[in-house]
Amino acid sequence: MTKEKNVYVCNNCGAESPKWIGKCPACGQWNTYVEQVIRTDHQNKLPISGIERTESKPMLLDEVTGGEEQRIDMKDDELNRVLGGGLVPGSLVLLGGEPGIGKSTLILQTVLRLTGKKVLYVSGEESARQLKLRANRIKHSSSDCMIACETSLEHIYTDIKNIAPDIVVIDSIQTISTEVVDSSPGSLAQVRECAASILKFAKETGTAVILIGHINKEGSIAGPKVLEHIVDTVLQFEGDQHYMYRILRSIKNRFGSTSELGIYEMRQDGLRQVPNPSELLLSADNEGMSGVAIATAIEGVRPFLIETQALVSSAVYGYPQRSATGFDLRRMNMLLAVLEKRVGFKLAQKDVFLNIAGGLRVNDPAIDLPVISAILSSNMDMEIERDICMAGEIGLSGEIRPVNRIEQRIGEAEKLGFNRMLLPKHNIQRLNAEKWKIQLIPVRKVEEAFRALFG
Ligand code: TYD
Ligand code: MG
Repeated sequence: MTKEKNVYVCNNCGAESPKWIGKCPACGQWNTYVEQVIRTDHQNKLPISGIERTESKPMLLDEVTGGEEQRIDMKDDELNRVLGGGLVPGSLVLLGGEPGIGKSTLILQTVLRLTGKKVLYVSGEESARQLKLRANRIKHSSSDCMIACETSLEHIYTDIKNIAPDIVVIDSIQTISTEVVDSSPGSLAQVRECAASILKFAKETGTAVILIGHINKEGSIAGPKVLEHIVDTVLQFEGDQHYMYRILRSIKNRFGSTSELGIYEMRQDGLRQVPNPSELLLSADNEGMSGVAIATAIEGVRPFLIETQALVSSAVYGYPQRSATGFDLRRMNMLLAVLEKRVGFKLAQKDVFLNIAGGLRVNDPAIDLPVISAILSSNMDMEIERDICMAGEIGLSGEIRPVNRIEQRIGEAEKLGFNRMLLPKHNIQRLNAEKWKIQLIPVRKVEEAFRALFG
């Protein structure tokens, strides 16, 4: 007999309550509780019996075989690296990103290139014809990729049973619904129930599943943070719609590091991997312009050189404007305060605009030094010579603090033909400076850096 249970679920955070409440005690939002009917007889059961299961009895850790994961090579270096060396069979990967950023394109072009692996691509958003049109834009050789346009989880399981794929792609999790829960697709209860069921399926059958998820206005994967707890790996695809660069970041990864980063370029014929980002990011011709400084940054394990640009002008309207693209605004305000207090530059009445070229967002603290150098260069209208690059974190007292992996940064700068590099004095003490042809200029304080740059 089917038992029905009524619960109220917060649409914002997923908290449950047996009765309706106006304000969610968990997240503090008002009027977010909606009623949901849960039929308890289906719950947490694999909807299709007969899918082959692997045994799961308690056993000793030593008895567990397969310590070395056999990973699936995705034939895409950037994606492989961000996944931690390839896709792990039986893992559940969530790829999030804003609408139109290129999630479907990335996954479709990847699965179309795979050979020898059976793939089922389930699209709840596009028709088979639309998918075909998209696939035609992307250069590919024919592959073992099956397409299903389906939104019912139960039907998807039937397809899976018939096809027995190695990889299942679900585009997107917000369009899929299960009969177990009585609410519309995309609602929190549906998304959570479907994801939990898919996870169970993935673990029991050893099939790798890639879920595509939308990001909501607040920047989290729509509705459920809950989803991020369920899955093994969360990847985020980001970038500015107006730029062609796209960044694939790993936010959570049970099978690898989360500091990894993949860079792509959106083209007419799909996404192209960018193995050497520095060359692209530095290609602009800025000869003789003030307000530009070159940073040697590291994201993930890769060093790259990137341009920081600043514009400082007198505030026309009483309150000076401060704006930063690709850099934390609060951090910029802190750096301005350091300049004001420690170096004595009067920036309080100036508008300051900061931009990291290429639409990238960089979290590496080593770009502090290039940021303030660009600001001062613009303020004094003096150019920083183009053969200088720099790295260094700025402390509150104006000291330049050491940065990590300095050798990699120097190596990259040298490779790209820079002649001089400003770096923290602490870093150089542990270095063998003879190893490099590039001239290393150690600096201890912000003032020293300015003397080195502007004389
Ligand atoms: P899409 O993968 O549909 O985004 P998402 O699934 O994240 O919503 O990407 C859509 C955008 O990508 C669209 O604006 C067109 C662009 N695009 C290209 O520039 N080149 C291509 O080869 C393809 C397939 C799409
Ligand atoms: Mg899409």
